[in-house]
Amino acid sequence: MKKTVDFIKEKTNNFQPEIGIILGSGLGELADEYCDYAIPYTEIPNFVKSTVQGHKGRLVFADISGKKIVMMQGRNHFYEGHTMEEITYPVKVMKTLGVKTLILTNAAGAVNESFKPADLMIIKDHINFMGTNPLIGKNDDTLGERFPDMSEIYKKNLIELSKKCAKDLCIDIKEGVYWANSGPSYETPAEINMIRILGGDAVGMSTVPEAIVGNYCGLNILGISCITNAASCTEGSKLSHEEVIEAAAKAKTKFKALIIKLIQSL
Ligand code: HPA
Repeated sequence: MKKTVDFIKEKTNNFQPEIGIILGSGLGELADEYCDYAIPYTEIPNFVKSTVQGHKGRLVFADISGKKIVMMQGRNHFYEGHTMEEITYPVKVMKTLGVKTLILTNAAGAVNESFKPADLMIIKDHINFMGTNPLIGKNDDTLGERFPDMSEIYKKNLIELSKKCAKDLCIDIKEGVYWANSGPSYETPAEINMIRILGGDAVGMSTVPEAIVGNYCGLNILGISCITNAASCTEGSKLSHEEVIEAAAKAKTKFKALIIKLIQSL
């Protein structure tokens, strides 16, 4: 960790971010528009490089409205074959750099039938169905406790603030439970049905490991999903990664406006 953090501090002239944002599939444009320093993951000691389409794979530092921000433009996923420890390492790095608030974003399939592609959903809670947990293994007591409380991962004050920001921007925002599968295959109609019955509103393949680790090390977390498709709820409706990226592109203007407004309000 010291090696990673020293490298980043040197490259960024000792930039001290207070807000961290992980930008999901198709939502990375914010980091193109606001970028004071950028470091490709490949250059950062102990980072793994991102392999999925639609992800750039760099850490971007920017001052937005006087707030110091670090953004992950592209994230690593469990389905790429990385370990849970590898994919959540950047969250620990952000914490060590001084981040207090972490905004997690992703592209997700709608399970709730009232959601449609290009809707934004505030994550009010999650269900971890990835079959593992990023905190398995020896605990580092300097970061967090062995058995972390999970009663309010996604902070109520941040949820309320997001709703207010969305209202001010006339964005119709949804709220729901994010269900995480490991992927990389999308869900079958029977699985979507199960997720709905068990309380999921949207389904994706990320975010939950980062939320677990962020909560564990004391970060205030906000999660926002961009609904990119009706998860395969009707038999015969085909789903592709291209469709997901396309829908995220449709939502990106309001997504960016919301994130900027949030940053200004924090
Ligand atoms: N399922 C899982 N992950 C996803 C989906 C989906 O339908 N859409 C975007 N990411």
